[in-house]
Amino acid sequence: MLSDWQIKKISEKVLRETGIVITEDRSSVLKNKFYKFLKAKSNLDVSTCFSLILENDEIFREFLDYLTINHTLFFREQIHFFDLAERVKLKGQKKVKIWSAACSIGAEPYTICMVLEDLKANYKILATDIDRSALETAKSAKYPLNMLDQIPKTYRKYVNIYDDHFEINQVLKEKVIFETINLIHIPDNLKPELDAIFCRNVFIYFNFEQKIACLEHLKELLLPGGVIYLGLSEFIPSHIPGLKFIGKSIYIREA
Ligand SMILES: C[S@@+](CC[C@H](N)C(=O)[O-])C[C@H]1O[C@@H](n2cnc3c(N)ncnc32)[C@H](O)[C@@H]1O
Repeated sequence: MLSDWQIKKISEKVLRETGIVITEDRSSVLKNKFYKFLKAKSNLDVSTCFSLILENDEIFREFLDYLTINHTLFFREQIHFFDLAERVKLKGQKKVKIWSAACSIGAEPYTICMVLEDLKANYKILATDIDRSALETAKSAKYPLNMLDQIPKTYRKYVNIYDDHFEINQVLKEKVIFETINLIHIPDNLKPELDAIFCRNVFIYFNFEQKIACLEHLKELLLPGGVIYLGLSEFIPSHIPGLKFIGKSIYIREA
């Protein structure tokens, strides 16, 4: 049985290494994830598994992949993709740079591709997540057939359908660069030249200060007039100078 002390130690390590805060009311989530992880590592007992999470970097990274919730869909909260399309139309053939900042298994960046391909737009996407195994799926661009229903029929021309899975077209795959980035420690080498940032449905992991710090940082990476999309159920109850909230979880960087 994992003790409260062990849960505390793991939470402290997660906070130290990733900045993710596991509040007491979420410690049962951590406990459940620990047991799921332990089951996958059938050769380990509770105490060895606990020690390895604390002491072995590779095992800790694997555990982290269990801890993150990757739920996503193609065309999720689709109003944002069509809002982006309207903005991109105004740019004509000027290159548009977009960051999908918690992209999970890739449904979000590939949805952006589908919508922008239809406009014959000139674009490039950086897609990042903290979870390496989710990023592996994203890079493979292969999905189970039961996800196909999420893609409206007019956009299915952008996927190749096989007997047991479908795969995103090569042309779209080449538009996306995948990288591991922790939004709590955004690296300094990102250039402030983005037209849009999708940072949706990731703030559940952050406390208030982390949300504000993250948004401040994202703002600095946007061009004037650039937009940030948060998840539709996410709202920041605080004004961030230079960022204008225009509704539907959309923020615009003022000039
Ligand atoms: C619920 S999914 C949202 C995926 C997609 N943005 C969407 O709305 O469908 C949340 C993603 O946030 C990622 N995540 C959690 N904490 C993160 C962090 N500190 N930095 C970057 N990504 C993080 C998780 O790994 C997960 O893939």
